[in-house]
Amino acid sequence: MSKTATLEYNGEKYEFPVTIGTEDEIAIDIKTLRANSGIITLDPGYKNTGSCESAITYLDGEKGILRYRGYTIEELAEKADFLEVAYLLIFGELPTQSQLDKFHDDIRDQAVVDEEMKKILDSFPKSAHPMGVLASLTSALIAFNPSSVNVSSEEDMYKAIVKLMAKFPVLVAWTLRKKEGLPLDYGDDTLGYVENIAKMMFKRPNKEYKKNDITINALDKLLILHADHEQNCSTSTVRIVGSSHAGLFASISAGISALWGPLHGGANQAVIEMLEGIKADGGDTKKYMAKAKDKNDPFRLMGFGHRVYKNFDPRARIIKKAADDVLGNLGIVDPVLDIAKGLEKEALEDQYFVDRKLYPNVDFYSGIIYRALNIPTEMFTVMFAMGRLPGWIAQWREMRLRNEPIGRPRQVYIGENQRAFVDISKR
Ligand code: ACO
Repeated sequence: MSKTATLEYNGEKYEFPVTIGTEDEIAIDIKTLRANSGIITLDPGYKNTGSCESAITYLDGEKGILRYRGYTIEELAEKADFLEVAYLLIFGELPTQSQLDKFHDDIRDQAVVDEEMKKILDSFPKSAHPMGVLASLTSALIAFNPSSVNVSSEEDMYKAIVKLMAKFPVLVAWTLRKKEGLPLDYGDDTLGYVENIAKMMFKRPNKEYKKNDITINALDKLLILHADHEQNCSTSTVRIVGSSHAGLFASISAGISALWGPLHGGANQAVIEMLEGIKADGGDTKKYMAKAKDKNDPFRLMGFGHRVYKNFDPRARIIKKAADDVLGNLGIVDPVLDIAKGLEKEALEDQYFVDRKLYPNVDFYSGIIYRALNIPTEMFTVMFAMGRLPGWIAQWREMRLRNEPIGRPRQVYIGENQRAFVDISKR
């Protein structure tokens, strides 16, 4: 039986169909609202607005569920590798061995960027924030790969996706190497996808690179956990930029900029900076708990709270265990981790945090792992972008294949009514 919702305004009734998703999410389809009634909805931050129908990622913030294409994040983090997850997200199914091998071979074929890109990188000061550098380099790739994607051709689409999956890790590694003043490297096409990223990032010019399984496994897991998260700020940015039929690289570059902010992907950097600040200030976590609760103090406990997870972030559970494993295996004692654990315990027992359903999110612990892997703090969000790449691509592809209309919200105007121009001499 089809369901409808009724809106009553000014004595008029308007009927709207109700859409129910495969996990019983209910949405009132208001596509005809303005045309039929002249009214719009107002929802700053889109807390109640579904911007699209999507078959990629399902999450239930109340129950702490996250699934990519139906598979739980717990199972994927344990059993799959990042490239498999990327394939799953982008193309919808787990790849067979031969599909995965072909995908990887095609990526290997494209895993170089034009040498001219080095000039662009050189023009940045070493002090430039890696996220700014990465966004710029990704945009610059458009110039070296000018043909726009013919989205009605699966082959063209596939080629564009492969190019980006291949070249992006080079840019990520170069961003780090620029920061560290190391020579640029193209990696090694005999290695696995994540192993190659690690080598491109960590290889020193004077030393033979030695594979470290703990590092590779931790990176693999982190990338999988960050690979998609449905219609968050950066993903919505990718979709909305792509909806103007801007190219794939341009859409992803916009997503990188959106991810940079401290309320989104920049939180992992902000968490470590906060923990280090607390440590430098004597390690008094209670003082910072009080600051976080003080409405006159702008301080927020970074790494706590989430727009959709209101019970726990399932990724935080996996990552907390991974952080313990990595630090244990690498024999690292990190006082910042003790502060993190202390803060977490206090916050979980504190009425302010309990009432507002504020729990540690994925970024509370990811920074601790990145630190243990010797990745500089300013690179943390770049690592997040590396993980999120397949999610952004999958969302862009889905949006284009569904031929979604250009994203263009409306507004409620609250400015001046029409008024007469006043000459400058009379103002
Ligand atoms: N510390 C202290 N108080 C907080 C925090 C926090 N980290 N987060 C939310 N609150 C409080 C708010 O002050 C507000 O209190 P009030 O109801 O008394 O006014 C209440 O909790 C609700 O907060 P909102 O900002 O309305 O929640 P929203 O869902 O809009 O924001 C967000 C979610 C942005 C993640 C927020 O919790 C935050 O700023 N957290 C810190 C930054 C962070 O860790 N971001 C990473 C998110 S995960 C990711 O992007 C991968």
